[in-house]
Amino acid sequence: MLRLRFWLLLLTNALIAQALPTQERRDADFASVRTELAHDRSGKRRDPLDKYFHESTFHPHYDGRFAASKLPEEQRKPALTALVQTYFSTMSTIGAQTWIMHGSLLGWYWNRRIMPWDSDVDVQMSEDGMRELAGYYNMTMHNFDFPSMEGDRRGKGRGDAKGKRRSYMIEVNPHYTNASTADLHNVIDARWIDTETGLFIDITTLRRDREAEARGYKGHMYSKDKHLILEDDIFPLRDSVFEGMPVKIPYAYAELLEGEYGRKALARSSVENHRWDRERMEWVKIV
Ligand SMILES: *[C@@H]1O[C@H](CO)[C@@H](O)[C@H](O)[C@H]1NC(C)=O
Ligand SMILES: *[C@@H]1O[C@H](CO)[C@@H](O)[C@H](O)[C@H]1NC(C)=O
Repeated sequence: MLRLRFWLLLLTNALIAQALPTQERRDADFASVRTELAHDRSGKRRDPLDKYFHESTFHPHYDGRFAASKLPEEQRKPALTALVQTYFSTMSTIGAQTWIMHGSLLGWYWNRRIMPWDSDVDVQMSEDGMRELAGYYNMTMHNFDFPSMEGDRRGKGRGDAKGKRRSYMIEVNPHYTNASTADLHNVIDARWIDTETGLFIDITTLRRDREAEARGYKGHMYSKDKHLILEDDIFPLRDSVFEGMPVKIPYAYAELLEGEYGRKALARSSVENHRWDRERMEWVKIV
């Protein structure tokens, strides 16, 4: 069911970092975007020079510019849910075409939710959508008020009994224009980042495979993380709901899931130390 209360309020789109026009493109470093942290855990120092996005030194699914540690498990789930809701709400306002894929699509298949053991969210975006983000929304901040979210992870400050505000940032990899899968260090085209917890959604562009098309293979598509996909498996997108938000899902979702995870993934009733509870329609931890 739609939680209308949750219709998160889009408050400001402010550019928070701008490179000087005369300078070369650089990535958005710790100093330009950090919020409250004193130490850089971005992981940038050990990454190859041409890699744009950096994963934190403590976990690959966190942005170390915004967080110093992993969230406790009981806070991770609500933070991921909020990440999904704010992402789809913002992309729908912007008009960028995007849909869930991979592990998130598998979670959707079972009960329209993120699987409890997942620590990330997978989405794809159309080439037009990515151009739109890069052209007009790079480094924009999007603030949402959460009426009911539990207090601040640092246990003080911005959270209060009435709810709290969180800021999310869109950041687009300048290498998104390089369509080559040889660009190994830049397979993620953009991120939707929770600037309080450091959690993010990786956004990959679904691209036309123009070389394959020139050889007569119509409708062959791919993303830079080397997923090969047929246009007919994705389009026309279907309307559905994920974590209480209206979302798009690929047309041939069952075939895609079977291809990626095997037929068993759609039928098995226990996995990752969880069992499927048919009555509650939920994955329950086996204790
Ligand atoms: C987005 O902004 C950052 C920070 O200014 C910059 O390094 C990056 O190149 C920009 N991305 C695009 C696609 O322009
Ligand atoms: C894309 O990236 C690859 C790998 O870094 C590089 O060899 C190639 O020159 C790049 N292409 C363009 C058009 O920048």
